Amino acid sequence: MKTTLSVIKADVGSIGGHIQPSKRLLEAVRKHVATEGRGLVTDSYISYTGDDIAILMTHSRGKGNEKIHQLAWDAFVAGTRVAKEQGLYGAGQDLLKDSFSGNVKGLGPAVAELDFDERPNEPFLFFAADKTDPGAYNLPLYLAFTDPMYNSGLILSPAMSQGFRFVIMDVSCTEGDRVVELNAPEDMYDIAALLRDNQRFVVEAIYSRTSGEVVVSVSTTRLHNIAGKYTGKDDPVMLVRVQGAFPATGEVLAPFNIGHYVAGFMRGSHTGPLMPVRSNSGISYFDGPPVVSCQAFCVSKGILTEPADAFDHPYWDFVRTKVSQKATDIRAQGFSGVSMLHYGELEYGGIVEKMKKLENMFKVRA
Ligand code: 13P
Ligand code: 13P
Ligand code: MG
Ligand code: MG
Repeated sequence: MKTTLSVIKADVGSIGGHIQPSKRLLEAVRKHVATEGRGLVTDSYISYTGDDIAILMTHSRGKGNEKIHQLAWDAFVAGTRVAKEQGLYGAGQDLLKDSFSGNVKGLGPAVAELDFDERPNEPFLFFAADKTDPGAYNLPLYLAFTDPMYNSGLILSPAMSQGFRFVIMDVSCTEGDRVVELNAPEDMYDIAALLRDNQRFVVEAIYSRTSGEVVVSVSTTRLHNIAGKYTGKDDPVMLVRVQGAFPATGEVLAPFNIGHYVAGFMRGSHTGPLMPVRSNSGISYFDGPPVVSCQAFCVSKGILTEPADAFDHPYWDFVRTKVSQKATDIRAQGFSGVSMLHYGELEYGGIVEKMKKLENMFKVRA
């Protein structure tokens, strides 16, 4: 029997701005999953990263299961009720449609799912990011799955020597899921050519070429495309199976020490460095910096261990200090040039009105 990992996350309200959910809101989501999920999910774990709440569930119903998605949707609806009661900011922010219809994809919440036969030992990592978008995972995944400078297993482990297959989505396409499959190492330059554009091309999944097994699943939601206007950043989640024929935990974590610049930060309209943080931590400076958390689990017959907080270690304190400096440096130039996203990616409609008005004021000198 296959085990399915489903993580569904949403921002349904937050204390004091886009900072973090309230205890009562988290409790409402947790309680809903615990009571209504009985007999439906094998195990679950609820956590937050910035203002986003993630529901991690294990079950045997496969990916895209209506009942599982409905459970998460209803838990977020229950949370929204509490968020409204408490006057939380952005109550129901990511529930973009009025009612549930079969699958949360396209309704606002982000979803990542993996479906596999459990190995005798089954470690995996659950990542959640806030104040950024799914392209934030492009560079770390490229480095962890193709580059022996970051993944020594590509040299040392025979199980990885055949490399990995990348499924990459063009998230600018709104008609359907436009995807391409490319193999590392032979297509590495093509993979890089796509993944350099974090706003358009996003890793959706990665497969082992040795065993054919799925290793990675990333949420690819673009709220912008669903709502047609800014409602919040896409704040992506990701599941990564590790060890054995897959990269070691530390190899997947390694590229996160770069604190690479990603889209997001204040009003989803800036560039900021991605800071690895402890899970269940909030947001601060300039509604940022963009953050990523990682919880490591093992699963056996669908039962989860407690999480190990992968970025809660003295090494990452050093990285956080470096990333803070990078955030301060880019913020020093305010709105100028690369510190703010280009026009097409700005998440606020106000700039469109402003530009229209200014366009009319221009005159071509004779
Ligand atoms: P979220 O997408 O995390 O809700 O943040 C929105 C925002 O505008 C932050 O400044
Ligand atoms: P395994 O070979 O046991 O998966 O571990 C690899 C390793 O030593 C990670 O650093
Ligand atoms: Mg928010
Ligand atoms: Mg958020």
